[in-house]
Amino acid sequence: MAQLWGGRFTKQTDQLVFDFNASITFDKRLFHEDVTGSIVHATMLAKQGILTEEERKSIIEGLTGILEDVDAGKLTIDETQEDIHSFVEATLIDRIGDAGKKLHTGRSRNDQVALDMRLYTRARVAETDGLLEKLLEAILDTMENNLETYMPGFTHLQKAQPITLAHHYGAYFEMFKRDRQRLADIYKRMNYCPLGAGALAGTTYPLDREYTAKLLRFEGPTLNSIDSVADRDYLIEFLSALSTIMMHLSRFSEEIIIWNSNEYQFVELDDAYSTGSSIMPQKKNPDIAELVRGKTGRVYGALMALLTTMKGLPLAYNKDMQEDKEMAFDAMDTVADCIALFTGMIKTMKFRKDRMAKSAMNGFTNATDAADYLVGKGVPFRDAHGIIGRLVLYCIEKDTSIDALSLEELRSISDKFDEDIYDAISLKTCVEKRLTIGAPGAEMMKQVIEKNKEYLKTN
Ligand code: ARG
Repeated sequence: MAQLWGGRFTKQTDQLVFDFNASITFDKRLFHEDVTGSIVHATMLAKQGILTEEERKSIIEGLTGILEDVDAGKLTIDETQEDIHSFVEATLIDRIGDAGKKLHTGRSRNDQVALDMRLYTRARVAETDGLLEKLLEAILDTMENNLETYMPGFTHLQKAQPITLAHHYGAYFEMFKRDRQRLADIYKRMNYCPLGAGALAGTTYPLDREYTAKLLRFEGPTLNSIDSVADRDYLIEFLSALSTIMMHLSRFSEEIIIWNSNEYQFVELDDAYSTGSSIMPQKKNPDIAELVRGKTGRVYGALMALLTTMKGLPLAYNKDMQEDKEMAFDAMDTVADCIALFTGMIKTMKFRKDRMAKSAMNGFTNATDAADYLVGKGVPFRDAHGIIGRLVLYCIEKDTSIDALSLEELRSISDKFDEDIYDAISLKTCVEKRLTIGAPGAEMMKQVIEKNKEYLKTN
């Protein structure tokens, strides 16, 4: 066990206490951010005359060497250190001697970890955004190719009105587009640099916080040193955005599971994206969709855990905040994997357009259009609704559909029906006449697709 802070103590830390307190097994993930932050801090200290030119050079060479050696596998992160900050500093001192002991001038591990975590999260926000962009491209591609792939639209999981696959996918396009907007928003708000806040009250050294913020590509320095070390809002916001992404992916997965079921058979999953059963030879299971749906729980869990950890913490830093890492890392990894796998799954999935159209044709999905037809013939909508209701009942008793009835049968229920009813309630008419903004008619969908293409080009 190795510690940076032994001076005040007369006794060794109990091994169990050390292990319980240490974070290196998981914060070693912040290694790159820690070294980057330290290089920038040393650069600024030299610019301000706090370090000599030689010290700066020696520190930066030392840090760069540590970075390269760990990356090349020549140096392993020593897990007997308390945390990643201790490892980097101890290794630096070990390699360059006294100059290394000056690196921590005007800095605390509190602003150091605040910076590392922010840098790391910022990169993961950008990475998540990139993955969502690829997912959106895959969705838009399917939309373009399925403007006339008819299927039933549902409410209460009951067939409601006919739509197209393009239209259905368009709903998910909007969801993931909003998710990206949320990420952009979080990125903007979090992009301020806490380095230089010290333990909580800044420092007496003349640090140039504008300069370090600029070198680390932040918008500027944070404006309150207490908040700088006590704030994990950005992480909570990111976990909340990740939870929303998972909620969307989970809904989409659920639909794919339904569409893949024996009863529906709307889709066929690619062999590479499904799994079999050890006992039932006929099985081809949608495990990826199920896992994505299932993993939603642990991402929500990370959000709840961090909210609960932060609740009731007095200002400024408290060790509780070390708990921000493990579950947040897990959530970030989980969501990245889920988006990537989900994208692969939907890109390779085949649609059984015949079955989808057939399903759209029965279940009375044209009942609203039949009522609208009567409205066109001067029947008030509420009366038309009642007439078609009786017609549906008649069809259910005869086990048939509205469009399969003869004109005589139709007329026996209302004399307003004419030969043109058949065209008015055909699947194609039902969809293609729906041309209000956001509706499934192909002409409208084309306009929406153009807008979304433009969006992808500029975002
Ligand atoms: N391992 C700590 C964390 O993750 C680093 C900050 C420690 N600061 C302190 N004063 N003990 O939060």
